[in-house]
Amino acid sequence: MEKLMITGGRPLQGTVSISGAKNSAIALIPAAILAESEVILDNLPLLSDVAVYSEILEELGATVAWEGSQMKIDPSSIKSIPMPNGPVKKLRASYYMMGAMLGRFKEAIIGLPGGCNFEPRPIDQHIKGFEALGATVTNEHGAIHLHAKELRGNKIYLDVSSVGATINIMLAAARAKGATIIENAAKEPEIIDVATLLNSMGAIIKGAGTETIRIEGVSELHGCRHSIIPDRIQAGTYMIAAAATRGNVLIDNVIPKHMEALTAKMQEMGIGIEEYDESIRVLGTPRYEHVDVKALVYPGFATDLQSPMTSLLTQAQGVSVLSDFVYSNRFKHVPELVRMGAKIRVEGRSAIIEGGRLNAAKVKAADLRAGAALVIAGLTVSEGVTEVTGVEYIDRGYDHLVSNLRHLGADVWRQTE
Ligand code: EPU
Repeated sequence: MEKLMITGGRPLQGTVSISGAKNSAIALIPAAILAESEVILDNLPLLSDVAVYSEILEELGATVAWEGSQMKIDPSSIKSIPMPNGPVKKLRASYYMMGAMLGRFKEAIIGLPGGCNFEPRPIDQHIKGFEALGATVTNEHGAIHLHAKELRGNKIYLDVSSVGATINIMLAAARAKGATIIENAAKEPEIIDVATLLNSMGAIIKGAGTETIRIEGVSELHGCRHSIIPDRIQAGTYMIAAAATRGNVLIDNVIPKHMEALTAKMQEMGIGIEEYDESIRVLGTPRYEHVDVKALVYPGFATDLQSPMTSLLTQAQGVSVLSDFVYSNRFKHVPELVRMGAKIRVEGRSAIIEGGRLNAAKVKAADLRAGAALVIAGLTVSEGVTEVTGVEYIDRGYDHLVSNLRHLGADVWRQTE
């Protein structure tokens, strides 16, 4: 078992460069199978979820060459093979194989996805979308069976503006007959990234990033080259870590516009923020004010930064209230932070956080962002060693976390037991 060992108390200093976005990458890789020729993805993050996805594509017969931050996917010899088990079970985003396979082959058998199960995460809106496009969808022994004689464009109103459902419907609709309109679509930057790739492949998608997306289906898509957008959640995590340690860090290769909800909250707390074209500097100050935060769909405060933000708010004066309106119970980090001496209680969908000192403890990451929260908490504690287990979750979303933190002056290392 691997664990992260942290002796905190050192202000983070220096520059960290952010890799491509995980939640884009794991949608762009399956999107590539809709093409008839090679797709090249640049600025790919080096993450275990990306490795699992390349395994899934190879299992289907695609040729995948992954070197550094570039992946070349040749989907020309891909076949429609049922995938009820195997790597699809390791990954939540394997649900994108449903839309991609449906678009390419009009059929798919995909095992129900795994991944970070911090609470039940239904996929009813994905299925509603596939059915609206003319697919029959059944759940047989834990695998989703999808089949369509032909896919026909339709108007789909999403009951919740789901990132996954919006992307999945775009994937299937890109090669359907006629026009599909998604209403109440999610507006996250990763959706724009997927639409940009599909359009470079020859798709006709308009409105990505707004609540109405229009997709004109085409019969064939071709290869292209695409550079993935920077990971706004990774960037936000380093911004929060810089502030929590009262450091001075330049976060490079970011799109500052994507960070607005976080930068506004940090400024409200009294943290110094300098914005440049593609980077943001975070300047810690001795005293932080308490704030209330509401995690919402984009452009609101990201739910994926809710757990790291909890750790930062333990460093503020007074009582902060952090509510998550995307997931009702994403608080697995709270009992672990309490072990570290944090004064936090959960009431409904809110965490009520009273600022105060933390202490070192042995804690367990139960999901990816909970893991990030614990690492940040550990970085604030100067006496003793904080031990974080559940490193496999953290590796799903943070490219080179330990070396990046060490480069910023943190005393962090991996230990294998
Ligand atoms: N929802 C439904 N029905 C559906 C789909 C979603 O009720 O069919 C609900 C969910 O339960 C949730 C809300 O809608 O309450 C939003 O879920 P969404 O579908 O947008 O989430 P997702 O696509 O499954 C992606 C990211 C998550 C991130 C959310 C919200 C990927 C692979 N995952 O999940 O990222 O939290 O959007 O922004 O893109 C992470 O990176 O740690 C992570 C969990």
